[in-house]
Amino acid sequence: MDVSQRYREAWEGYWRETSDTPGEAIWDSDPSLTARPHSELLLPYADLSLPVVDLGCGNGTQTRYLATRFARAIGVDLSHAAIEHARRADTAKSAEFEQLDLVDRDAVRALRDRIGDTNVYMRAVIHQSEPRDRPVVAGAVAELLGERGRAFVVELTPASKAVLQQAASGPDGPPAKLRRVFDHGLKPASATDEEVPTLLRAAGLTILATGDTALAQTERMPDGSRIDLPARWFVLAGG
Ligand SMILES: C[S@@+](CC[C@H](N)C(=O)[O-])C[C@H]1O[C@@H](n2cnc3c(N)ncnc32)[C@H](O)[C@@H]1O
Repeated sequence: MDVSQRYREAWEGYWRETSDTPGEAIWDSDPSLTARPHSELLLPYADLSLPVVDLGCGNGTQTRYLATRFARAIGVDLSHAAIEHARRADTAKSAEFEQLDLVDRDAVRALRDRIGDTNVYMRAVIHQSEPRDRPVVAGAVAELLGERGRAFVVELTPASKAVLQQAASGPDGPPAKLRRVFDHGLKPASATDEEVPTLLRAAGLTILATGDTALAQTERMPDGSRIDLPARWFVLAGG
């Protein structure tokens, strides 16, 4: 199985049109607001001598932070253009990056065979995946963890839709970074509240800890405040 051609082209087109400027993607916030606090939630459960794989790593901003906390960090993304961004941005060569579709079960299994049990970080991938692909993405998390790995997964909740609508309600419509997301046919926050935990459990994952949070964006509301999107996080173990 594979993602649809439309979905693949949406992401490839988005990343092809994105410059290397940090923060140009609306979700590309500084790790001090994202991977650092998320790591604090994961680290008490994780074996840091195992690698960490950042699933849907985009331009690798968070992967580079994860490389400072884990023995080895690998970022994977569906989009070739995203992986090129990530490699260019990693001037210290602290992480490894490769193109991989999480919906391609053979490719995920091959990665697991190569690196063994691994920790996983996944930020904002399921919420916008096509509905038929979401169980497979959750399955990829389970496949990679094996017995020893632990995962941190954080996904936008439907409450984000109201915040995005409010962000788009200024006299000029959606701010530029948000408009670009919609122009490429990407569909944020389309998973329901119960869908994500249900998918994770159905993939054989155990929820060790969970909570509500907000994902800081790099774009502003009409009143000038930062866009923070409601989300839910999970720390997970296999089996
Ligand atoms: C909203 S962005 C988040 C990027 C990154 N996780 C972050 O927090 O900065 C979602 C990312 O997931 C990637 N993605 C979407 N579906 C994927 C799939 N099936 N396999 C691998 N990557 C995927 C997209 O290309 C995009 O870079």
